[in-house]
Amino acid sequence: MLEDKFGRRFHYLRLSITDVCNFSCDYCLPDGYACDTDRDFLALSEIKTLVNGFASLGTSKVRITGGEPSLRKDLPEIIKACSSASGIEHVAMTSNGYKLDTDIEKWVDAGLDSLNISIDSLDPRMFAAITGHNKLETILLGIDKAIALGVKVKVNAVLMKQYNEKELKNFLTWLKTTPVTLRLIELMQTGDNVTFFNQNHVSGMPIKEQLLESGWEQLIRDKTAGPAQEFFHPDYQGKIGLIMPYSKDFCATCNRLRISATGKLHLCLFADQGLDIRPALQSTDSSQLQAQLIELLGDKEATHWLQDGFTGATKHLAMLGG
Ligand code: 5AD
Ligand code: SF4
Repeated sequence: MLEDKFGRRFHYLRLSITDVCNFSCDYCLPDGYACDTDRDFLALSEIKTLVNGFASLGTSKVRITGGEPSLRKDLPEIIKACSSASGIEHVAMTSNGYKLDTDIEKWVDAGLDSLNISIDSLDPRMFAAITGHNKLETILLGIDKAIALGVKVKVNAVLMKQYNEKELKNFLTWLKTTPVTLRLIELMQTGDNVTFFNQNHVSGMPIKEQLLESGWEQLIRDKTAGPAQEFFHPDYQGKIGLIMPYSKDFCATCNRLRISATGKLHLCLFADQGLDIRPALQSTDSSQLQAQLIELLGDKEATHWLQDGFTGATKHLAMLGG
């Protein structure tokens, strides 16, 4: 089992399969994706070796992320490669929802069981202003389809002063009848968004207090839970999660490892550099990869140091998919 020197275990792998994204979210890629280098993303065969190697060390869940993963034509094959690896019990994906409405059946057939979709506002005009795409309504239809197909759906909304701080009411109304988990994510500072961050960062703490005052109750976290604090309410079909990376002890429960689209292992979203594991992916036998992973994990740091304004090499989250 993969474990670091702080006793954290890594059942959970986040795998970026492209860093290309067609949206231009203000906090991430405000000017859209700039193709500055010739990108050579992991091939399906390399992904197979990778997932098998992690699975043999105890990884049971893979999240496919990007950029926007649905921009890869071989996405169903990638999902299948993950879901059919021995030991992998869950395959999740994070997407901007652009192809959700048309492609969800293919993804589910290939073995996808849960989906995180980014929706920063339930107001179509505001959604378009943030992402550059007038797609809110088709994305919401896609979410209904996914729920009907039995997919576990989470919706990510980044908290931004300028846009959606006051949107909580709309989101709450929606959650009354929609069985999804809405995760409100505090805006994180990255290398590229310093000015936007300074203008727009708001803490999730006042929202937590507001929820507790209006009858929401905090769920007890189980050991394998991610970094969200989750809340439920008997009158609501949906749940709410708060992700507050600037809060104390946020990193203590970190159970994730990240692989970039070009095959670099990132021990933290904000690590200074990725560690190249691509050479170990060239064979269908994953034993070289396993040995390398065990050695590299010795270096995972206790925390991300974001509180000190340290953002490592992370220019924007399209690099690693959050
Ligand atoms: N801060 C917080 N969340 C971010 N995301 C992307 N960039 C940032 C940032 N700087 C979110 C996206 C998506 C998830 C993968 O990460 O909105 O929901
Ligand atoms: Fe928006 Fe995600 Fe694309 Fe970044 S990667 S621009 S957050 S959809």
